[in-house]
Amino acid sequence: MIEEKIFLKTDIEKTMDNYDFLGLKNTLKMSPENIVKKITESGLRGRGGAGFPTGKKWQFALAQESDIKFLICNADEGEPGTFKDRFLLENMPFKVLEGIIIAAYAVKANFGYIYIRGEYAKAIEVFEKTIKDAYHRGLLGKKILGSNFDFELRLVKGAGAYVCGDETSLINSIEGKRGQSRIKPPYPVQKGLFGKPTVVNNVETLSTVAEIMKYEDNVYAKMGTENSKGTKLVSINGDVKLPDVYEIEFGSMTIKDIIELAGGPKDEINFVVPGGLATSILKYDELEVLYTYEDLENNGSSVGSGGMIVVSKKHDLIELLLNVSDFFVKETCGTCFPCREGNRNIKEILLKMKRKGYNDEYKKIIGDLRESIMLAARCGFGQSSVNFIYSIIDKYFYEEVK
Ligand SMILES: Cc1cc2nc3c(=O)[nH]c(=O)nc-3n(C[C@H](O)[C@H](O)[C@H](O)COP(=O)(O)O)c2cc1C
Ligand code: SF4
Repeated sequence: MIEEKIFLKTDIEKTMDNYDFLGLKNTLKMSPENIVKKITESGLRGRGGAGFPTGKKWQFALAQESDIKFLICNADEGEPGTFKDRFLLENMPFKVLEGIIIAAYAVKANFGYIYIRGEYAKAIEVFEKTIKDAYHRGLLGKKILGSNFDFELRLVKGAGAYVCGDETSLINSIEGKRGQSRIKPPYPVQKGLFGKPTVVNNVETLSTVAEIMKYEDNVYAKMGTENSKGTKLVSINGDVKLPDVYEIEFGSMTIKDIIELAGGPKDEINFVVPGGLATSILKYDELEVLYTYEDLENNGSSVGSGGMIVVSKKHDLIELLLNVSDFFVKETCGTCFPCREGNRNIKEILLKMKRKGYNDEYKKIIGDLRESIMLAARCGFGQSSVNFIYSIIDKYFYEEVK
C-alpha cells in the first residue's frame, strides 16, 4: 500500500495554547551560527521553486554586516496548480510562525514580513490572528520568550500579480512600488528590502525549519536521497480522484505512485505537470520517474513548486496551450522586451496552429523564441514561461496532431 511520509504535516488544528514551540525554544538556546550549521547539514532546499539550499542562503545573510536586516516569508503562492502553502497557513499557522522567528534569529534579522497572496482570505484571517496572539504571548516583540532576541512581524496582502511571488518583485511590492523584478546582483541577501540585507524564504521551507529544530538529532538529513533530503509537500490536482496536499519522502515514490496515493487517475492520463506551470511536462509513458530533484531534472523537468497537475486525454491540447499562454501574456510584468513580446508572439503562433494545423516551422519559431526569452529574461518568470508549452510541442504535440 502506498502511504504518505508524515514529517511536516503534524500539529494540524492545534491551538496556540497547546502548540509547544519546541523548535523555537531549542533555537533560542543555540547561537545563530550553530543553527545555520544545522540547517545546512539538514540538506534542506528552498521549497519556493528554485530549490536553493536554505543553509547557504542563511550563511550569506548572517555574514552581512548591517544595522538592520529583514526576514520575509513568501506566501504569495501564485503558481497555477499549487496550494500547499495555503494548506500550511490555514491549518498549521503556528509552525509557519515558528519557522519565521527561527530564521530571523539565525540570520540576526529583527524585522520581518509575511506576504500572503491577496486572494487567500482565510489564510490572511488566520495569520492576522496568529500574529496578534503571538504578540500577547511574548512570541513576537521585545525579548522573545525571555531571550535577548527582538523581532517584529507584519503581514502584507499580496498585490494580485503572479510575478509578485518573485522575491525581488515582492520586495518592490512591500516597498509600495510596482511589482517588477529587480536586476540581480545585488541579491536580496546583500541589498533587499529598503536596501538592507533580506532573506526571502517560502512558507514550506520555514515550516520545515521549525520541524527540523525540534529534534536534537538531524533527522531530516536521514530522509530522502543524497541530493534531495527530507520530504516535500505535493499539491496534486487535475484529473485525479482525491486532489489534496500529500507529503512525499524524496526518492520513495514515482510520479505514478503519487497519482495512486491521490486515489488514481479519473481518466486515461495524457501527461503530468510535476511542479507548477513553470515546469516541463512528463508524458504518460514517463511517469515511472522517481520523485527527487535529480531524477526529475534528468528527465527534463523539475520539482518546482510541488503543484502537480494530472491531465487526462479528455482535454484538447491546443486549448490547454492557449490557456497557459494567455496566463503568461497577462502576467508578464513587461520590463524585458523578449519576455513581453516573445510570450505574445507565442500566443499568436498557437492561434495560427489552431486555425491552420501544425507544421514544423511553428515548432522552430516557438523553440527560437523560448531560447531568446531564456537568455534575455531578467527573472525566473521569463526563463520558465515557455517550459510547459515547448515541452508539449516538442515531446508530444507533434505526434498528437499529425
Ligand atoms: C515569477 C515567479 C514567481 C514566484 N512565486 C513564488 C511564490 O509564490 N512563492 C515562493 O515561495 N517563491 C516564489 N518564487 C521564488 C522566489 O523568487 C524565491 O526564490 C523564493 O521565495 C525563495 O524561497 P526558498 O529559498 O525558501 O525557496 C517565484 C519566482 C518567480 C520567478
Ligand atoms: S522576465 Fe518577464 S516577468 Fe521577469 S522582469 Fe522580465 S518582463 Fe518582467
